[in-house]
Amino acid sequence: MTTTTALGCQYRPQHHYTADRNWLNDPNGLLYANGTYHLFYQHNPSGTVWGNMSWGHATSPDLLHWDEQPVAIACDEQEAIFSGSAVLDRDNTSGFGTPDNPPLVAIYTSAYSLASPLAGRQAQSLAYSTDGGTTWTKYVGNPVADRGSADFRDPKVFWYDGAAGSYWVMVAVEAVDREVVLYKSADLKAWEYLSTFGPANATGGVWECPDLFDLPVDGDAGNTQWVLVVNLNPGGIAGGSGGQYFLGTFDGVAFTSETTVTEGLQEDDSRMPEYGWLDWGRDYYAAVSFSNAPDGRRRMIGWMNNWQYGAGTPTSGWRSAMSLVRDVSLATRGNRVVLVQAAVDPFDGGAPVYSDAGTTLEPGTHWLPAEASGDVLRIDAEIEPREARTVGLLLRAGGAEQTVLSYEPGTGVLSLDRTASGNTGFHETFASVESVAVPLEDGRLRLRIFLDRCSVEVFAQDGLATITDQVFPEEASTSLAVFAEGGPATLVSLDVVR
Ligand code: FRU
Repeated sequence: MTTTTALGCQYRPQHHYTADRNWLNDPNGLLYANGTYHLFYQHNPSGTVWGNMSWGHATSPDLLHWDEQPVAIACDEQEAIFSGSAVLDRDNTSGFGTPDNPPLVAIYTSAYSLASPLAGRQAQSLAYSTDGGTTWTKYVGNPVADRGSADFRDPKVFWYDGAAGSYWVMVAVEAVDREVVLYKSADLKAWEYLSTFGPANATGGVWECPDLFDLPVDGDAGNTQWVLVVNLNPGGIAGGSGGQYFLGTFDGVAFTSETTVTEGLQEDDSRMPEYGWLDWGRDYYAAVSFSNAPDGRRRMIGWMNNWQYGAGTPTSGWRSAMSLVRDVSLATRGNRVVLVQAAVDPFDGGAPVYSDAGTTLEPGTHWLPAEASGDVLRIDAEIEPREARTVGLLLRAGGAEQTVLSYEPGTGVLSLDRTASGNTGFHETFASVESVAVPLEDGRLRLRIFLDRCSVEVFAQDGLATITDQVFPEEASTSLAVFAEGGPATLVSLDVVR
């Protein structure tokens, strides 16, 4: 569990990582090594808004219970430590460790300050640990990749082993140019330029925090596709920060995608629903994956916030949480290959505190009994809309507050409405309705919903689409209801787990 103190109890999540104190943004350096998951993150060690960017650090045996560790890589007068990744350098290619004690190597962006001879630039640097991630030493030869650019950042490094050879690959961005740039290296220290991807698809903001990995389609190891993740801000599908993905091939040099639009891009309005989106809500940003996760799994985590209003969320002493961790895979749905996501479930194994099955929902709102209420819940619902015009759930309801998850079978659109969710007044853009088109399957809609003290994460149709939104209701707003409008529907099943 995330460490909780008396400090800033209100809204402090139970199942989502927060820094004990102060600000966090992007997940960084996600890595599994020697039985431990490492979550580093953009952190201001001395304030509740962005600044003094350093890598905070937390460790976990299971991706659910996190222990905060001391700051891993601290800013200094010359540089802020911006986002990046970390690898287990198993063969000690960098020479920072020994064959018997291979090092962990972090690749981060040095954002140079005025006191530095490289002032104004962003370049990639290394730090290493030979004690399992407890202490980190900056490499004396930093930076290791410098293009003389002011917006070259967020390196994600992985070991490529394919037809073109075996070497480290770095994917980073030229953020303002909306480009992903690829480099290769034998030792993590000397980097050679490979190729550039983009601009393409959503370009309504700067490109940040890329990732690149391959996944089997429908679990078939003989049929893999490469996934290029590009976060962008603003220009996300729901407004402000968001993440898109491209499917394609990577031949060791270049990533190419056949489903990509590169001509006639409208930067002002490139939020096309037909593009690949990681999430359809407002609060899933800078999502990247763990390196070296066991069993070939691909697990991602995002910053559960949005740069539009992130500095003003109404918490005290701490600000911003990470999303739940997501297992991602590729699956054929309809006639398309899509990214499908499932949360690593904090409620796994818990018996439902309330269940219902096979109930006709007459038009109206049906409040669930008190035992089904709560602010930290998993809700699994399967609904057959039948003759209803709209079906859905009221979440975190109380007094005039409610967060409304609704589905219209006529349009096939699922919406999460947080306009009356609670405290929305801290920023003019916060009150919002998020939407995604999801087809019924056999006439049914399946929803898995995670509520925590200040968030709602919705996984629809077994992870075909997700909506992640922060909400800031009163503590007492814990009621739950199901509803149908315009005609009867069937509640095929409902399980509430606490
Ligand atoms: C994304 C981002 C990154 C940068 C970091 C700075 O949220 O802007 O591009 O490295 O945050 O904190």
